[in-house]
Amino acid sequence: MVSSAGTLAELEALKVQCLGRNGELTGLLKLLKDFPIEERRLLGQAGNALKNELTAMFDAKGETFAASALADELNKISADLTLAPYPFPQGRLHPLTIASRRMSAILSSMGFAHASGPQVEDEFHNFTALNTPEYHPARDSHDTLYVKTAPGAQKWLMRTHTSPMQIRYMEANKPPLRVHALGRVFRNDSMDASHSPVFHQIEGLYVDKNVSMADLKATLAQFMSALFGGRVEVRLRPSFFAFVEPGVEVDVRCPFCNGKGCSVCKYTCWIELLGAGTVHHSVLRAGGIDPEQWSGFAFGMGVERIAMLMYGITDIRLFYENDIRVLSQFPQ
Ligand code: FA5
Repeated sequence: MVSSAGTLAELEALKVQCLGRNGELTGLLKLLKDFPIEERRLLGQAGNALKNELTAMFDAKGETFAASALADELNKISADLTLAPYPFPQGRLHPLTIASRRMSAILSSMGFAHASGPQVEDEFHNFTALNTPEYHPARDSHDTLYVKTAPGAQKWLMRTHTSPMQIRYMEANKPPLRVHALGRVFRNDSMDASHSPVFHQIEGLYVDKNVSMADLKATLAQFMSALFGGRVEVRLRPSFFAFVEPGVEVDVRCPFCNGKGCSVCKYTCWIELLGAGTVHHSVLRAGGIDPEQWSGFAFGMGVERIAMLMYGITDIRLFYENDIRVLSQFPQ
C-alpha cells in the first residue's frame, strides 16, 4: 500500500487515510472498547504494533522522496559541490611595514611627534642646510641620484637620507622640538646582503635647552629596549656626519649570540644600526633656531637593518623579492 504512492503528496494522502484521526486503522482501534478485557489487551497490542510499523514505513518512504527531491535540486546546480573549499588567502602586512610601524609607535610613546617630507628634495634641504660642503663626496652623482633639470636651474635629487626633515621641521616649528620621520631614501649604491639602493630610514630630532650626548644615549637605549625587549646594550663610536658635532655611530650588542659571536654580527658581537650626534650649530641656524639658546640631538636609523635584527634575517634582498613563502611568515 505504501509502495503504491508515486509522489510525496500521494504518500501524505495515504497516511491520513490510514493513520489520520478518521483513518481506517484509527477507526479499527476505536472499536476495541467493545471487546472483553482479555481480547481487548491482545488486540490493542497487535493494533499498536501495526500502527508503529505503518508509521515507520510512511517515514522511510517520505525520506526517499525528500532525498530524491534534494538530488533533483542539486542536479540543477552546475558547480561541483564535492570539491574542497577554495582557500582564500588573507592579505598580510609587509615585514618592513610591521617593523616601521612598531618603531614609530615606540617613538610616539616617548613623545616624538610624527612628521614627513618629500622624497624628491632640493639640494638645500638635503645637503647645504645640513652643513654638507659644496665639494663633499656625498653630493657626487656616484652617490646621489639627481633628477634631470635644465642647465643652471635649481638641482633636485632623490633624498639620500631622512635628515632633510630636520631642516623642514625647524623651519616650520619653534623649539622645544621632539619629532620623528619615517620614509624611503635613495642612493646610487649597488645591492648586496646588507645594502640596497632604495631603503628606509627613521629620523629623530630633539631640540631643547642644554641637550647633551647623555640624553641621546639614554633615549636610544630606551628605544632599543622597547623594540627588542629587555635591556639592550648600546655602544657609541665616534664618527663623522657633517650635520652633527660630535657625531657617533650607534651599535647594539648582538641579540642573537649573547656575546659569543655569530654570522649576523660577523663575529664582532656588535651590530651597527644608526648614525647620530649633537645637532651642529650651523644646522640649527639654517633651521632658524638660535644655537646660543638651544641645543639638540638627532639620529637616523636604517629600518631594514633593524627589521633584519628583529626577524633574524641575514640578507636584505628577502624584503624586496616579494616571495610569498617569505612574506607569509611574519607575525602580524
Ligand atoms: C645617514 O644617513 C645620516 N643621515 C644619519 C644621521 C642622522 C646621522 C642624524 C646623524 C644625525 P648613514 O649613511 O650611516 O647615515 O645611514 C644611516 C643608517 O641607514 C645606517 O646605519 C644603516 O642602518 C642604514 N643604511 C645606510 N645605507 C644603507 C643601505 N644602502 N641599505 C640599507 N641600509 C642602509
